[in-house]
Amino acid sequence: MASAPQSHRKLRFHILRYNPAKADDEPRIQTYELEEAPGMTLFIALTEIREKQDPSLQFDFVCRAGICGSCGMMINGRPSLACRSVTQSFPDDIWLAPLPVFELIGDLSVNTGKWMRGMSEKLETWVHMKQEELDFKRIEAPMDPALAEEIYELDRCIECGCCVAGCGTARMREDFVGAVALNKIARFRLDPRDDRTDEDFYELVGDDNGVFGCMSLLGCHDVCPKQLPLQTQIAFLRRKMVAQGTKG
Ligand code: SF4
Ligand code: F3S
Ligand code: FES
Repeated sequence: MASAPQSHRKLRFHILRYNPAKADDEPRIQTYELEEAPGMTLFIALTEIREKQDPSLQFDFVCRAGICGSCGMMINGRPSLACRSVTQSFPDDIWLAPLPVFELIGDLSVNTGKWMRGMSEKLETWVHMKQEELDFKRIEAPMDPALAEEIYELDRCIECGCCVAGCGTARMREDFVGAVALNKIARFRLDPRDDRTDEDFYELVGDDNGVFGCMSLLGCHDVCPKQLPLQTQIAFLRRKMVAQGTKG
């Protein structure tokens, strides 16, 4: 006997729409209905909505594999990567909004790149060597595997911005550098090729816009899609900075 065709859920996507580039546009919630397909991700759902229902809907995807960090959005109130979120794990009603804190481009698309670039320039998140000339021998010198592994772990950050959007301090204080930045400082502190001292790092993040502004709310740690050990890194950095502060 032929089996009865499988019936799929009817999903309702409630999406916060707003295009700041249009002078007469107003923020509003727009609802779209879509039949759920097996294995459907939010990337697939939003693409289908854009292709079949509303070509004006704005959102960002590049890799669709949790690597590029471009698809962060608020999904039922939680910052997450849309390409890694399957509709199956949500109820019939799915609420989508752009990540807060970042500049809104339109609808679900935000300019995390501009924020990350600003943070990176302010905190100089690259290896600093004292030599005037590049010392390739030192750059290429083998690293202790355990240390390399520790650095690699922190380097897995994809700059998606979820930790910043999920942080109460970042939402209240425009200049707070966020967990993404503290993770980067922790990473460069570990790097034996970086000649900066604890005093130099203290100059960069030893204040209320840095490690002392963090109120240990831990939203960052809970929402990071790469499960970076943000809680441990921030606590460690704070201890180091307290020690450095009492020295200076
Ligand atoms: Fe995204 Fe995690 Fe990096 Fe924050 S630390 S930007 S949540 S990957
Ligand atoms: Fe924010 Fe994370 Fe600190 S959520 S307050 S950076 S522990
Ligand atoms: Fe690249 Fe989601 S599209 S992380």
